[in-house]
Amino acid sequence: MINALLRFVFVVLPMAVTTLVMMLKQPFVPSCLHHGRGEANAAFFIFGDSLLDAGNNIHLNNSMKANHWPYGETFFHYPAGRICDGRIPPDFIAEYAGLPFIKPYLQPNFTDYTGGANFASAGAGVLHQTSPDVVLLFPSIHDRKCTSWAGRKFSFQNVAPIGCNPSMRYEMRIDGYWEDSNVLAHTHNVALSRLLPELEKELVGFKYVLFDYYTMLLERIFNNSEYGFEVGKSACCWSRAYNGNFTCGIRGENFMLCPYPNVFVFFDPAHPTEAANRELSWLMWSGEPPVMRPPRNLKSLFEVSSD
Ligand SMILES: *[C@@H]1O[C@H](CO)[C@@H](O)[C@H](O)[C@H]1NC(C)=O
Ligand SMILES: *[C@@H]1O[C@H](CO)[C@@H](O)[C@H](O)[C@H]1NC(C)=O
Ligand SMILES: *[C@@H]1O[C@H](CO)[C@@H](O)[C@H](O)[C@H]1NC(C)=O
Ligand SMILES: *[C@@H]1O[C@H](CO)[C@@H](O)[C@H](O)[C@H]1NC(C)=O
Repeated sequence: MINALLRFVFVVLPMAVTTLVMMLKQPFVPSCLHHGRGEANAAFFIFGDSLLDAGNNIHLNNSMKANHWPYGETFFHYPAGRICDGRIPPDFIAEYAGLPFIKPYLQPNFTDYTGGANFASAGAGVLHQTSPDVVLLFPSIHDRKCTSWAGRKFSFQNVAPIGCNPSMRYEMRIDGYWEDSNVLAHTHNVALSRLLPELEKELVGFKYVLFDYYTMLLERIFNNSEYGFEVGKSACCWSRAYNGNFTCGIRGENFMLCPYPNVFVFFDPAHPTEAANRELSWLMWSGEPPVMRPPRNLKSLFEVSSD
């Protein structure tokens, strides 16, 4: 049954939220869902930026690319397109849900989306101009006749405290964090937390969870030792002041690479390590309020019936 099919989406960007709302208002059932494999199977779609990109960046021109060592060194042992030393949240969530890794939409010869697809793009940014790369990805969904998203389940994570990224501290040459950019992120997050309950009222069958990524990451950056991290504020793979310049693995550049990424919160100047991603993903999967709202986590969202 269509209604029994589970649909999940991760969203980081305001841009993505707007796009999805448009899709939700499509009145008809998309033909791509008729191939559903029954109640026990979940399909898992991912939208977002570089934090969730499983490799679309490799196939796009305007993106930050993670197609070189040491990206991937910890888990995949090759550059797997993730901007991380290992796995990113969609990988962990898929594992918790008993699903295979969800492939990047742009991976060559990947055409069967009944189990899901990853549309996240490292070209996307929360506080930048909307990336042309990402705009390209959304209309593609229509090509595949997946034109309605009504009655689906959505998992959102709010925006990170980006003023605390090593890259921001480097750009701004400051020792603490760049408060302005945290204020912007926080303002966006408050608006998102108000929008979602409204959508739930408005859209038939819309169910969501919202993960307080901002607070959970901030905690790990500042109180790192309480969470088992030796280093919270600086990146494992780095160069220059505050470990903040993006030269990680770039040929011809001087950069440093720490021997044990698992004791760092940040792998490169703006992306968490696999170790941090594992903790954050577990919170999203099984966390309780106020980390997960409404009082519901991703695990229970997977289990709740869609109607
Ligand atoms: C990237 O740029 C190259 C050269 O300009 C072009 O041939 C290629 O089609 C572009 N790829 C994408 C995905 O736009
Ligand atoms: C995609 O499929 C075509 C036709 O089967 C094949 O020739 C090509 O090598 C494949 N490309 C990749 C990257 O696997
Ligand atoms: C870190 O720990 C201190 C002391 O327990 C607490 O006051 C603070 O709110 C925590 N979080 C951050 C982000 O500093
Ligand atoms: C970061 O490093 C690159 C490569 O060495 C350099 O060109 C760039 O100017 C640096 N960025 C800043 C803000 O200094």
